[in-house]
Amino acid sequence: MADIPFASIRRVFERAARLASQGTRVINFGIGRPDFDTPEHIKAAAKRALDQGLVHYTPNTGVPDLRQAIADSIQKYKQVAYSPETEIMVTAGGQEAIYLSLRAFLNPGDEILVPDPGYTQFASTIQLAGGKGLPMPMLADDNFRPDLKAAGKLISPHTRGIIVNSPHNPTGAVLDPDQVAEIGRFARTHGLVIFSDEAYDRILFPGADFSSPAALPGMKDRTVIWGSLSKTYAMTGWRVGYLAAPQELIGAAVRVQQNVLLSACSFAQAGAVAALNGPQECVAEMVAEFNRRRKIILDGIALAPGLECPATPRGAFYVFVRHDAAGLDSTGLADYILDNAGVAVVPGTPFGERGEGFLRISYATSQSECQEGMTRIAEVMQELTAGR
Ligand SMILES: Cc1ncc(COP(=O)(O)O)c(C=O)c1O
Repeated sequence: MADIPFASIRRVFERAARLASQGTRVINFGIGRPDFDTPEHIKAAAKRALDQGLVHYTPNTGVPDLRQAIADSIQKYKQVAYSPETEIMVTAGGQEAIYLSLRAFLNPGDEILVPDPGYTQFASTIQLAGGKGLPMPMLADDNFRPDLKAAGKLISPHTRGIIVNSPHNPTGAVLDPDQVAEIGRFARTHGLVIFSDEAYDRILFPGADFSSPAALPGMKDRTVIWGSLSKTYAMTGWRVGYLAAPQELIGAAVRVQQNVLLSACSFAQAGAVAALNGPQECVAEMVAEFNRRRKIILDGIALAPGLECPATPRGAFYVFVRHDAAGLDSTGLADYILDNAGVAVVPGTPFGERGEGFLRISYATSQSECQEGMTRIAEVMQELTAGR
């Protein structure tokens, strides 16, 4: 474990909490989770499950009703047919899906291409599973799409997979169908499995369409979907996600699960069934609210000297902002903004080396906080860039 880095993103939260405890009213643009409450009908289903005594272990792969609901939802939103009996597994959040599948899939020393910048836990989970992440550049000036030319040069005989994450944390970038198809061809050419992190699949803004590599002709057999209910239904604390993958991989992941968690929480799974099978207006409402906040943040960035948004985010709830503030690296600037504006933002570097020069702003906070936070940031950026 000494080689596994401590999640450095936590540093921001610890500093912000310290400031808040000293009386500063901190606006938090750091946090990577929806601020909404879980919709009432989902909570009611979990409460009912408790009252009905659904308090025991469930199958390692999750309750049949939930596996069916996941398969139905994938069919509806991703147009791919999965067998709920053999190709779906319920996990404790998308993060456990990542861990179980990588632990099941990787042999010691195997390599996986990882988006850089990308979700902080990809590289460390690969490491935890005995493999090695190969940082794959994302092209900031081309909508943060993966640089497959550069990726091709990184490939060795040990490289066995590529991680795709659309909508993308930390940039909000969404891959167009032709880009997904290009990644599919790349994976096939190099004999790679695609690990597709689809945690934000339903948080899409007008003009963006979701497409899964699993839906490409002939690609389902070489794709592993990491799914999550956390972001879609504001259920981060419930810990429900899933793996959708070829039977062989699910079989191996079950063996890992038998030695890690045994099964996901019984009544959380009951809530998840209600989330997937119940009314979906709640999702549309949350996405519409995210979209209003996105506009406030983007307008604010346009008014802040020294900040620029290279690609308009089209999904998730993040903006990845390029900065140019004399003499400060990303960590220095994030600290400066927190200390002088009382706004917590995450420096780009926890997301990978190519995150240097960027800040991640998460707009999982109210419109008025978005507005005030951006006003405060614009003021300190004015001070920092004055006299140029
Ligand atoms: C890209 C991505 N994948 C997976 C996760 C894990 O989420 P959860 O385990 O709550 O599903 C996150 C959380 O922020 C994420 O951003």
